[in-house]
Amino acid sequence: MCFTQEFMYTLGLNATFHDSAACILKDGKLLAAAEEERFTHIKHGKRPIPFSTYELPFHAIDYCLKVAGIHVNDVDDIAYSFNPYKLLGKHANDAHISLPLKPSEIPKAEDWGAEWDPLFLSLIVNAPGQLADGYPHHLQKRFVGAKASTEKWHFVDHHIAHAASAFLPSPFNKAAVMVLDGRGEKATSSYYIGEGNNLEMIGEVCLPHSLGLLYEDVTTHLGFLHSSDEYKVMALASYGKPVYLDAFRQMINVGDDGNYTIEKVDFEKVFGKKRLKDEPFTQKQFDIAHSLQKALEETVLKLATWLYKETGCENLCLAGGVALNCVMNAVIRDNTPFKNIWVQPAAGDSGTALGAALWIDAQKGKDNYQREEMKHVYWGPDFEDDEIEQFLKWTKVRYRKLENIAEETAKILAEDKVIGWYQGRMEFGPRALGSRSILASPINASMQQRLNEIKDREDFRPVAPVVLEEDAGEWFENAAYSPFMLFVYNVKEGKADKIPAVRHVDNTARIQTVNRNQHALYYDLLKEFKKKTGVPVLINTSFNTRGEPIVCTPRDAIECFWTSPFDALVINSFLLEKDK
Ligand SMILES: [Fe+2]
Repeated sequence: MCFTQEFMYTLGLNATFHDSAACILKDGKLLAAAEEERFTHIKHGKRPIPFSTYELPFHAIDYCLKVAGIHVNDVDDIAYSFNPYKLLGKHANDAHISLPLKPSEIPKAEDWGAEWDPLFLSLIVNAPGQLADGYPHHLQKRFVGAKASTEKWHFVDHHIAHAASAFLPSPFNKAAVMVLDGRGEKATSSYYIGEGNNLEMIGEVCLPHSLGLLYEDVTTHLGFLHSSDEYKVMALASYGKPVYLDAFRQMINVGDDGNYTIEKVDFEKVFGKKRLKDEPFTQKQFDIAHSLQKALEETVLKLATWLYKETGCENLCLAGGVALNCVMNAVIRDNTPFKNIWVQPAAGDSGTALGAALWIDAQKGKDNYQREEMKHVYWGPDFEDDEIEQFLKWTKVRYRKLENIAEETAKILAEDKVIGWYQGRMEFGPRALGSRSILASPINASMQQRLNEIKDREDFRPVAPVVLEEDAGEWFENAAYSPFMLFVYNVKEGKADKIPAVRHVDNTARIQTVNRNQHALYYDLLKEFKKKTGVPVLINTSFNTRGEPIVCTPRDAIECFWTSPFDALVINSFLLEKDK
């Protein structure tokens, strides 16, 4: 007798705006997840504009299907993290829509929210067809003969996808959930009670009022790229004073029911001329960034306090791009009655691929569906030693195999050398957490500057530490388990001069804690470094240079290594060094 095992596969997709990504679940369990940018080298996958809405993350999908060992037709459910029907209104059943020939031909306001909405929404509605027909030729193996199946396809509300990404993989059976992003269909902030497999929405704030879009607009005013460089504004904020805090307070009105409004103002009138890209920074830009950050913290503190009262939950889950603001997260941690906070590590839009897939499985699985806590982010591609060595030989680079990877790498780091560290499955989400990292010793203060030069980054950018989980509390105030670099902590008195390179100007550090279950070799490396130096901390910054996504393949790692001035590359068991 022959038994064939039937599995249920769910493919999760984020493709609407940016940070396009895919994940695959097998019987409700995550098998693989990755962002498209890592495969295409286009940061954030694409720009969030209507003309790119049709682009699906085919490379990330292909990788997920490869891990599952299936063809796209074998997928049972496809969960897409945006629901166009929330915006189509009376056009939901139309056979045709009209597109403007140019932006001046604005469709009637009562029909559409924005001039390019007809194009934007039709490209989303037609995504099932695009998945079947639009794949690049070089990926045909897992797509050829694909059928466009609308029965398998689920358009999931964008904020439900964020909320599910925050709650379903969290360690809590019951929690309050807060989503803060630029925008979904209409929602920009939303609140839920999560319990078991369910989410009950208890409130939302809709366009045009959006904390995320306000942060993006200020990012643009400061001469950065919006929907991309918001984290640089957060770093800039530490150098400023709250000179413009009252101006932001006048713009943002927070109710006592989770609602808020944001008045649209002309920034040039309030803050003066916009900074152009590459213009030098002045104190004014530091002050604007600082004031914005403070206003965000004040506002979110009020919202979180309301949410606590409304839900009575001790646990809080966060997602949405704003939840990547680790300074704001620390303010919530330190100033609200919530006892436990869990932030989805892929809190931006890439995480909605996961949230949408988990939500569909939770809905379909009903009582049989088993939630699983997300304890790490290592869901991307990895490569075996054989494969890497073959590639190294082919490229004719000099390398040697390490006997004891952790011990020998720690020795190089203790000599103040900067290394590329490429080990295991690539991280899902925006942070490098020890699989695709650049590592260095934090003991010498000049290392921050050196790393910014090596990575061709702005001078004001801090670098972050990774610390052994069991030692975190000894080096950082009240730190224990913080594996995703999503909260800042103060460096403890008496320790600051031992790790000056990772201490930001305001005495904070955005820490990653690591235990052996999360990443054994990374943990062992820290242990060895501690043995040699007495310091259980390393600098961990992402393995990339300015404008490039984090490296994915061995080829990416070697190209980045040989075109940047860092000293060594440890790739699986192999060490590559440059001549002195
Ligand atoms: Fe979002």
